[in-house]
Amino acid sequence: MIRLNCKNADVTIVGQENGLELEKEFDAYKDKITHIIASLNQRKDKPGQWLQWMNLGYNEETLWYVKEYASMVKDRFENILVLGIGGSALGGIAVTEALLKPYWNLLTDEQREGLPKIFFLDNIDPDSISALLDILDLKKTLVNVITKSGSTAETMSQFMIVKDRMEKALGDNYRYNFVATTDKKTGVLRQIAEQEGYKTFVVPDDVGGRFSVFSAVGLLPLALVGIDIDAIVNGVKDMDLALKNTDIRENIAAQNALIHYLLDTKKGKNLSVMMPYSSRLKYVADWYVQLWAESLGKNKDKDGNDVNIGPTPIKALGATDQHSQIQLYNEGPNNKVITFIRVDEFDTTLEIPRIFEYTGIGYLGGKTVNQLINAEADSTRVAVSDYNRPNVTIYLPKVDGYNVGQLLYMLEVQTAIAGELYNINTFDQPGVEQAKNYTYALMGRAGYEESSQVLQEKMASV
Ligand code: PA5
Repeated sequence: MIRLNCKNADVTIVGQENGLELEKEFDAYKDKITHIIASLNQRKDKPGQWLQWMNLGYNEETLWYVKEYASMVKDRFENILVLGIGGSALGGIAVTEALLKPYWNLLTDEQREGLPKIFFLDNIDPDSISALLDILDLKKTLVNVITKSGSTAETMSQFMIVKDRMEKALGDNYRYNFVATTDKKTGVLRQIAEQEGYKTFVVPDDVGGRFSVFSAVGLLPLALVGIDIDAIVNGVKDMDLALKNTDIRENIAAQNALIHYLLDTKKGKNLSVMMPYSSRLKYVADWYVQLWAESLGKNKDKDGNDVNIGPTPIKALGATDQHSQIQLYNEGPNNKVITFIRVDEFDTTLEIPRIFEYTGIGYLGGKTVNQLINAEADSTRVAVSDYNRPNVTIYLPKVDGYNVGQLLYMLEVQTAIAGELYNINTFDQPGVEQAKNYTYALMGRAGYEESSQVLQEKMASV
């Protein structure tokens, strides 16, 4: 199992002003945490609670359909092209980057064992969209368009462009190159997919985009490139069992949620840095940023009070950002809590040759890069603590499906518990919807005429 070390958030390490009396706080919040965990588990099956993501580890049916479709289309495509944005893309990006061999798209067919390359278009930059579509042989590309609402302008504009090109290249058969993942009943994409006869998968009810990585949203792209999704789901299930424990001392998601919440509300540490020491986990930090920001950044609490709260998440990468952000973290404002992720065992052991022995770099010879990256993880953790900056470390035994499943699920539960501590609605995103609606209005979508006029006036005045 993955482990959490939170000693460096304690007053004994980072001092009274910047740390917490962890044992005391765990005691003080024991009952509240018990109540939160019990309540999340009791409410998870109730419609409208947006807690269905807690059941995704047990969704055998989706797992079966995803694997069946992936095996059916195996060998038919050279490329998988995923169209989606935000929660519809970040989980897939994070997990493919973590679990595929690094530089996957540069490997030969043989090295990829005949499995397709994978590309995610999660932005609407005209240059990068055109460039990618010029590179891909669309006849040999399977497009997975993912949108829960079925109408997000970024995703749907990409879809329209790709569909048009695909139809020109393939004629009527183009439809076999599309698979849509969307709401089971509503939304424009659902309607189009049914009319056009695309294969479809469902974004389950009561699962928000940022909590959807273990639904078909994340699992389908992973299965299409041969990732063992059973291993991921096993990690999710085992972590779910562990996190059902209502005792804070046994529940790492509850501990980390409480630490972040108290450091923010009592000690003014309102920035939350996620810093994995593994390039393969770089995009897990991106995924975490969205999860934490959209879930916890809210202007009202559950009682309707104006609160404008939420810790700001920041992504960093070890060791790279030791040469960029760590100066600020150590000596700048003491307003952050850092989560380091440290990997015990890498897939490869890479030895540094014994050359230049009589120079200042001779000490590196005979060591491994594995030792070096973990020495840097350990020394940064200590250095940051020396500067009295609170930090926690998540230990991952290995970057594999089982552990990545555990890690992401643990962070989801941590977010849900933190939301309860802040007493806000973790699962809505009115701020995102506002921007989406303004875009619809500006681009002339029917039904948004009034907002369009208001918006035009506002834009003229700023
Ligand atoms: O987490 C969320 O709800 C958002 O980030 C959405 O995933 C994002 O806006 C994309 O929405 P949709 O899947 O409806 O296209």
